[in-house]
Amino acid sequence: MRDILVAGNWKMNGNSAANAELVAGIIAGVPQGSGFSLLVCPPYPYLAAVVAQTEGSAVSVGSQNVSEHEKGAFTGEVAPGMLRDLGCTYAIVGHSERRAIYGETSAQVAAKFQAAQAAGITPILCVGETLEEREAGTTESVVDEQLDAVLDVAGIDALATAVIAYEPVWAIGTGMTASPEQAQDVHRHIRGRLEALNANIAAGVQILYGGSMKGENAAGLLAKPDIDGGLIGGASLKAEDFLAIAAAAAQN
Ligand code: 13P
Repeated sequence: MRDILVAGNWKMNGNSAANAELVAGIIAGVPQGSGFSLLVCPPYPYLAAVVAQTEGSAVSVGSQNVSEHEKGAFTGEVAPGMLRDLGCTYAIVGHSERRAIYGETSAQVAAKFQAAQAAGITPILCVGETLEEREAGTTESVVDEQLDAVLDVAGIDALATAVIAYEPVWAIGTGMTASPEQAQDVHRHIRGRLEALNANIAAGVQILYGGSMKGENAAGLLAKPDIDGGLIGGASLKAEDFLAIAAAAAQN
């Protein structure tokens, strides 16, 4: 069976003191048990401090974004090798906020995915539809386009060392969660698309759900066969809330 990954995307929140308290709270409350792992993704400036604080704990550290370039004249960007150097093991790529606010295209996201892997970082590829797209009945084709952009350049084998996060845009930060059935349908669709290319890789890839996941709805979502964890925004900012989701993962 696939392990569950509980990942916190802090987005642009926190400061040194608040982060230290949050991380200490998470480390102190990691549930007993196996079959799950915990990850936090702080803003860039805090990565080194959080890596230092989590050393020797059950909590891994990832970034929220990464440059598609290895190095050079890209003012303001952060290279995948730098993140690896700092101790990051994961990088979120293609979050809907990056696609919508910063105009990242699926091709650019695919380049970031490949650049992360080349540096030894596991990319967490975010896919998901807007409310308009869902209502128009195009959820699957939107997700397919986002997934295929990566498969076309990186190939199915690259999914052996990657994570996918299905994040319906309409559920992010809105308090509106996809029902376990709605999420499962899309997760099954994604895994089915990978199965057609390589059944073994499809069976191994973790597909996380993201969008207003919290302690109260985590168990229902995680009980679904193709939901292998969560990418959590708001509820990752308080140790108690994040640990409630971790507890659901530990009991799954
Ligand atoms: P919320 O959990 O705040 O809805 O955010 C989800 C998300 O965007 C995680 O990447």
